Amino acid sequence: MAKDIYSRSFIPFAQMEEFGRDPFVITRGDGVRIFDDRGNSYIDGLSGVFVVGIGHGNRRVIDAMYRQMQELCFHPSMHSSNPAALQYAKDLLEFARMDGVFFLSGGSEATETGMKMARQYHRQTGSPLKYKVLATYGSFHGCTAGATAASGGPERRTPYEPLTVGVIHLYPPYCYRCPFDQEYPGCGITCAKLVEYTIKNEDPDTVSAIILNPVMISSAGFIVPPAEFHQMVRTICDRYNVLLIYDEVITGFGRLGEPFAADYFQVRPDILCCGKGMSGGYAPLAAALFTEAIRQAFAGKAGDRREFHHGHTYTGNPVACAAGHAVLKEIEERNAIANGRGMGERIRVRLEAFKERFPFIGDVRGIGLLQGMEFVQDRERKEPFGPDTPIVKLIDQAARKRGLIMRCGPDYIALAPPLIITSSEVDEMLDILEDSLVEAAGKL
Ligand SMILES: Cc1ncc(COP(=O)(O)O)c(C=O)c1O
Repeated sequence: MAKDIYSRSFIPFAQMEEFGRDPFVITRGDGVRIFDDRGNSYIDGLSGVFVVGIGHGNRRVIDAMYRQMQELCFHPSMHSSNPAALQYAKDLLEFARMDGVFFLSGGSEATETGMKMARQYHRQTGSPLKYKVLATYGSFHGCTAGATAASGGPERRTPYEPLTVGVIHLYPPYCYRCPFDQEYPGCGITCAKLVEYTIKNEDPDTVSAIILNPVMISSAGFIVPPAEFHQMVRTICDRYNVLLIYDEVITGFGRLGEPFAADYFQVRPDILCCGKGMSGGYAPLAAALFTEAIRQAFAGKAGDRREFHHGHTYTGNPVACAAGHAVLKEIEERNAIANGRGMGERIRVRLEAFKERFPFIGDVRGIGLLQGMEFVQDRERKEPFGPDTPIVKLIDQAARKRGLIMRCGPDYIALAPPLIITSSEVDEMLDILEDSLVEAAGKL
C-alpha cells in the first residue's frame, strides 16, 4: 500500500502522519478475536467500540443479510417501508418496551433525532417555547452539529463553536471526583437536585429535554451514577414537562447485563437512542425509540404538517434491519445478556484484586460487561498522573503487544468485550492485563 494513503485517508480523532508511521490495520475478526495485517491476533476487549456484542463472523447474521441482499438492498425511505424493517420494528419495540421507532444509521443521527423530536413534540403539544436541552459535562453524544453541541467534552466541541444554541451543561454524577466535595449517600444526590435548580432558573417553559449517557464513558472518564440519580431526574422531568432522552448508544443491547440501562436503573426515558451493539457491527444501524405520548403528538392528517420532518436516505434500510433483527434473535436465543452479566462479575472480581495489588489503581467501577479502572498517583489525594507519566499509554502498549485491545482514556481503562465471551477468554484477557500492569508498574 502506498504510504501516503494513510495521510490522505483520515480516520476519526487521529493525527494521520503519526498513524501512518505505525498503522494499525485490522483485516479479520472471528468470535472475540481480531487479526491485523501483520498476522497478530488480539482479544477484542472493547467489542470494536462497544459494538460487536455477539462477536465477529456470526453465521446467522451474515446469512440473514445475504438473503436480504438477494431480495432487496434498498428502497426510498421517504414514501415506502419494507418487510425487514417492519418485522424488526415489531420485535425491537417488544425487546426495548418502547412504543415507536425511527431507524437511523449511526449513534449521532440517533441523538440528533432525539433532540429534534423533543423540540417538535413540544411545539405540537402546547409548549412551543421549549427548546433548551440540558446535558452533562464530559458526555459524548456524537459528531453531528447538534450532538456535538450537546456533548460535554471541550476537546471535541469547542473547535466547532458557536454551535446549536440552547444547550446547558451540568456536572455529571461523578462520585469519585464529586465537584461539590460530598460523599454518597450523605450528599443527598446534589447532582440530581441541580437538574431541578437549572430547569427552574432557565424557566421551565423554555426547557425541552435533558440528554444523558446513563453510564458515561467519555473524556471525563468512566462514570457510574449513584442508584437514585436516574430516578430523581425522571421525577424532575415529569414535574416540569421536560423529556428524558437516554443516549444508550453504548449501554444498549445488553452491555449492562440488562437489555438497556433503562431496565437496569428501572427508569423509562421518553426517547431512547441506540446504535452500536444494535447491529453488532454488521451494518450501520441505529434508532430513536419513543413512547406512546410522543407517537401521538406526531399523528395527524396528511397536509397538517404534524409528521416528523426528518429522515435520512438509509432510514430503515432493509439489509441493516435484517442484520439488526438477526442480532436481536442471536442475543435472545444465546442468552447473551445473562452471559455478559456473569462475565462482567468475573472481570470485576479480578479488577478489585488488581486494586489491592497495584497502588496506582484509584477506583474500580462498572456495571455488567462494562468495567474499568481509574488511575491515580496518590490514592489519598486522588491525584491523576499528568502528561509526564503516561500510565495508560504504558499499559495499553504492554497489552497490545500481548494481544489485547481495551478502551483507554487519559486516566482510565475500560473493558467491554463481546457479550458472548467465555470464562476462559475472560481469564486470558485478564492475565494479559495483569502482566501489562506489572510491566507498566516497573516503568513508573
Ligand atoms: C454514547 C455515544 N453516543 C453517541 C455516539 C455517536 O455514535 P456514532 O459514532 O455511531 O455516530 C457515540 C459514539 O461513540 C457514543 O459513544
